Amino acid sequence: MALKNINPTKTQAWKQLTDHFEDIKDTHLKEFFSTHPNRAEDFTLAVDDLTLDYSKNRINQTTLDLLVALANESELTDAIEKYFSGDIINSTEQRAVLHTALRDASDREIMIDNANIKPAIKQTLDKMQVFSEKVISGQWKGYTGKAITDIVNIGIGGSDLGPDMVVTALQYYKNHLNTHFVSNVDGDHVSEIIKNLNPETTLFVVVSKTFTTQETLSNATTIKEWFLNTASEEDIAKHFVAVSTNLAAISEFGIDTDNVFPMWNWVGGRFSLWSAVGLSISLSVGFQNFKSLLEGASEMDTHFKNTPFQENIPVLLALISVWYNNFFDCETEAILPYSQYLSKLPSYLQQAIMESNGKSVDRDGKSINYQTGTIIWGSTGTNMQHAFMQLVHQGTKVIPTDFIGFETSLYGLEDHHKKLLANYYAQTEALAFGKTKEEVHLDLKFNNQTSQINTLLPFKVFEGNKPSNTITFQKLTPKSLGKLIAMYEHKLFVQGIIWNVFSYDQFGVELGKELAHKYYN
Ligand code: F6P
Repeated sequence: MALKNINPTKTQAWKQLTDHFEDIKDTHLKEFFSTHPNRAEDFTLAVDDLTLDYSKNRINQTTLDLLVALANESELTDAIEKYFSGDIINSTEQRAVLHTALRDASDREIMIDNANIKPAIKQTLDKMQVFSEKVISGQWKGYTGKAITDIVNIGIGGSDLGPDMVVTALQYYKNHLNTHFVSNVDGDHVSEIIKNLNPETTLFVVVSKTFTTQETLSNATTIKEWFLNTASEEDIAKHFVAVSTNLAAISEFGIDTDNVFPMWNWVGGRFSLWSAVGLSISLSVGFQNFKSLLEGASEMDTHFKNTPFQENIPVLLALISVWYNNFFDCETEAILPYSQYLSKLPSYLQQAIMESNGKSVDRDGKSINYQTGTIIWGSTGTNMQHAFMQLVHQGTKVIPTDFIGFETSLYGLEDHHKKLLANYYAQTEALAFGKTKEEVHLDLKFNNQTSQINTLLPFKVFEGNKPSNTITFQKLTPKSLGKLIAMYEHKLFVQGIIWNVFSYDQFGVELGKELAHKYYN
């Protein structure tokens, strides 16, 4: 069954939120804390190794109650049920949205067109395991009998960003294979990658759901030609594998059908890293770590499906984001991981979130007169503190932020980690509470700058009242990473439901492609 068509602005809760916004829009976070002594505790959720502190948001209990009422009036429970059970919620493409099935290791059957899809998922995972183990152990040989040393993932969008982000994030867990990613149609990108590669020891993983994407086919063709400079056609089978739904196109390209890892139409590209699209992940960190990634995501799925909205992490994150987007008119959100390993998370989430909810037509095909998808950007702490944080602290815009951190470091450099976390917490405090004129005055006096008080004071004041979520895991592991990614997948799902859009198509990318073809020809 399709999703319901409910205009959020026509709900009772929306009207109440509009009035409530007038009541609290100028309330400072300091006041929220001083009038609610247990706020930090009350507005913190802990689920296993994950803690979400959402106390530094410009909300009170009434805001939360009304936002939950909005979720109820938007029939979120019904939507979640449809999402997990394989209903055709991607109506415009007549597809189910079942990336969650890829990590569901239970015996629960999930039916598409009267057939259970779970056996095919299991079979593909088994094939990924066998293949990964052969390549990692050196049993899989290249055309001159040498073991593989390098993996090149050729794909773009969801066929690149997810695997690349995860392989970077799990670098600590990585084996001896060197992993490379080619995505851009810019020939300099592919040239830079192949210039240091040895065709005898390199494995190419061509990833394209459709196998029609210009960038991927161009890069794969260039690489195949480069490979054939030294090898012959029959050697392709030892060096090229493909992940796709389009078997005909793969075989036309010359890839052995035994080397094909299937994908399905019920997995959207930007949610596909859990499928065989994750082959480069499994090759880079081993199948067991890939499985742990799936397990982490599955734990988040269970939490999301079964937890009341008031205590449901993705739901709360989504509702708070709607509050800023639609009532405070905030346009952007920053993702700020305090781990260099997560340097690619912001770009990965840009596709997931912006390709999903960047829509201006509702589920009834009508133009929307309220704001939808947020603009996502960000970078890692502490680097970004020395770059763009000036604007977040003292600029004119309100930018909701997600701080993501880990209690323990991986290599155990204690002092570094203490400093990293000190900065992590300090930033959220500075954003929320700022520094008053009186405090600046005292500071200048103590630092013997009394003569400069009049000239410097206004520039050193921090208004504060800048919102943030603090999302802390115990440690960066494949499992916690899986949970983190799934958390954002569900957050964007909830937002799409509230905004009454279809989150799982992406027609907005098509016109540019068409025109590029016209210019190219
Ligand atoms: O152009 C957007 C897009 O369709 C994404 O949604 C997708 O992840 C990407 O292109 C790559 O598509 P494919 O995997 O079919 O090559």
